[in-house]
Amino acid sequence: MADFSVAVLISGRGSNLRSLLLGANNFKVSAIVSDKGDAPGLAFGAEFGVTTVVRERKDFPNLKSCKQAIFEAVRDLRPDLVCLAGFMQIIEPYFVEHFKGRLINIHPSLLPDFPGLHTHQRAIDAKATAHGCTVHYVDSGVDTGPMIAQARVEVLPHDTEQTLAARVLEQEHRIYPWVVGQIAAGNISLNERTVVRKPQVTAEAAQLGFVVP
Ligand code: GRF
Repeated sequence: MADFSVAVLISGRGSNLRSLLLGANNFKVSAIVSDKGDAPGLAFGAEFGVTTVVRERKDFPNLKSCKQAIFEAVRDLRPDLVCLAGFMQIIEPYFVEHFKGRLINIHPSLLPDFPGLHTHQRAIDAKATAHGCTVHYVDSGVDTGPMIAQARVEVLPHDTEQTLAARVLEQEHRIYPWVVGQIAAGNISLNERTVVRKPQVTAEAAQLGFVVP
């Protein structure tokens, strides 16, 4: 059993969480943490036999104390890596600092284009010809941390927000487990704000059709 442990933070559907559970060859998803008690993705906990932790805003006097409780829960799990997967809270600086170089996110756009929400519609409105997703280390900004890898899709003339989102999501499910596997293998790391990759990472990324920024 792989001993590189990963805590995955979700707020909703959890399809990226599922891709990590299915793609966990050299790592182990050790816990699922949610800020929503009714997040559909929590069901994967029972299905895959993984501990789930819920810390909901309604059980705390304010958002600040809820965020603190989420941080403490994740800290106490002592994961090797924390993966945000559709986790809809902004991560506080103390959280980023504690997990420096061990906290990553997947975002549905080719950053630095379209940080934030509604990325697919914004890409269509901007008449972008390429769109996709980015896995990046998390800093205190919104989708501004050092980029690890991207997967691209072409924007087709008749794409709607839904059709484009579906093609991007397919790529998300390929790239996220791959990146986590590379980090678990020690092939990707963070030095201050620089992503350090072993040479084979770039070669493998190219083979898989991923872009290493
Ligand atoms: C994904 O598009 C991810 O890139 C973004 O939020 C969405 C979460 O989807 N951060 P899911 O919950 O993983 O299905």
